[in-house]
Amino acid sequence: MSGSTNRQILLVEKPSGKLGTEHFKMVDGEMPEPKAGEALLRVLYISLDAANRAWMHGATYRSAVEANTVMAGGAIAEVVGSNAPELAPGDIVFGDTGWQDYAAVPARHLTRMPKLEPLTHLLSVFGIAGLTAYFGLLEIGKPREGETVVVSAAAGSVGSIVGQIAKIKGCRVIGIAGGADKCNWLTSALGFDAAVDYKDGAVFKALRAAAPNGIDVYFDNVGGDILEACLPQMNNFGRIACCGAVSQYDGIPSAHGPRGVPGLIVVKRLIMQGFIVTDHMDRRDRALADLQAWVEAGKLKVQEDIINGLENTPKALIGLLAGENRGKRMVKL
Ligand SMILES: NC(=O)c1ccc[n+]([C@@H]2O[C@H](COP(=O)([O-])OP(=O)(O)OC[C@H]3O[C@@H](n4cnc5c(N)ncnc54)[C@H](OP(=O)(O)O)[C@@H]3O)[C@@H](O)[C@H]2O)c1
Repeated sequence: MSGSTNRQILLVEKPSGKLGTEHFKMVDGEMPEPKAGEALLRVLYISLDAANRAWMHGATYRSAVEANTVMAGGAIAEVVGSNAPELAPGDIVFGDTGWQDYAAVPARHLTRMPKLEPLTHLLSVFGIAGLTAYFGLLEIGKPREGETVVVSAAAGSVGSIVGQIAKIKGCRVIGIAGGADKCNWLTSALGFDAAVDYKDGAVFKALRAAAPNGIDVYFDNVGGDILEACLPQMNNFGRIACCGAVSQYDGIPSAHGPRGVPGLIVVKRLIMQGFIVTDHMDRRDRALADLQAWVEAGKLKVQEDIINGLENTPKALIGLLAGENRGKRMVKL
């Protein structure tokens, strides 16, 4: 933070290829004034999400981010001024503040959060990442005890929680991640039964060895070639929870989609369903109670990757897309 100016990171140009630091610029903006119904927020932690990059392609479940605007992004923030009766200075909220020190945001777009310690857990296990893992696995994947669950981007914020919940539910769990270090971490620290390094090539074969009885639930964070490798190994009546497609976000998407769609889906009677975490928020309290109980019991380890300084946010997102992070990446202001 810097006095009464408001540092902002603008997306100056939408990338046509890979995202680079040249697509962003830091400027000193005006201190925002909250209008009626808005709260003035001081941003504490910016959430770095693979989806930040996907929003640059166009409108999805939210509107596209546009060039020459403050880069969009969720954050945990403190209310420092309020023109909304439901929020008061000192409250902690989650909302889309964008990448800046201060933001004025309508209170109806903010979620008031508990003041728990550490606050960072509000972005990781008790935030979008934890809830996405919980709802996607349990409500879409519907794993049963003894089944085999595979999760991609397994060392990332959503994937690392998915695998651990699947273990809690008594499943055999295989993570797919980039690099031997991440794979070792999944099995040695998080209790996954096996891990496949997709950067080592031959994903199909490695997966066959790790899941000799086939896959019952595939939690897909990446799409593309890894989805294609999983599809033929799905067991009859298996479930694929389509959470995201990070392999397609940065750069030019591959020319062909996964082969085997819809043939394998028909023959194996698969259910393949996309979901957006916000569709499930009516069960948020139940999910948070379970997640909290598992964390307290030591059954669910929380991995966070905290980068310091607003100015480092572009690099932190570019690094996340390249697989630098383990667990939930965020920027502390
Ligand atoms: N549906 C929803 O409501 C919802 C909500 C939140 C997030 N999501 C989705 O969840 C997924 C994970 O997002 P996140 O924000 O939590 O990020 P994250 O998993 O913490 O980080 C992204 C990870 O993706 C992996 N990756 C990057 N390029 C890849 C590629 N070409 N092939 C395979 N893996 C690749 C990298 O790990 P490696 O080192 O292993 O490559 C990187 O660490 C994304 O698809 C996101 O869109 C969906």
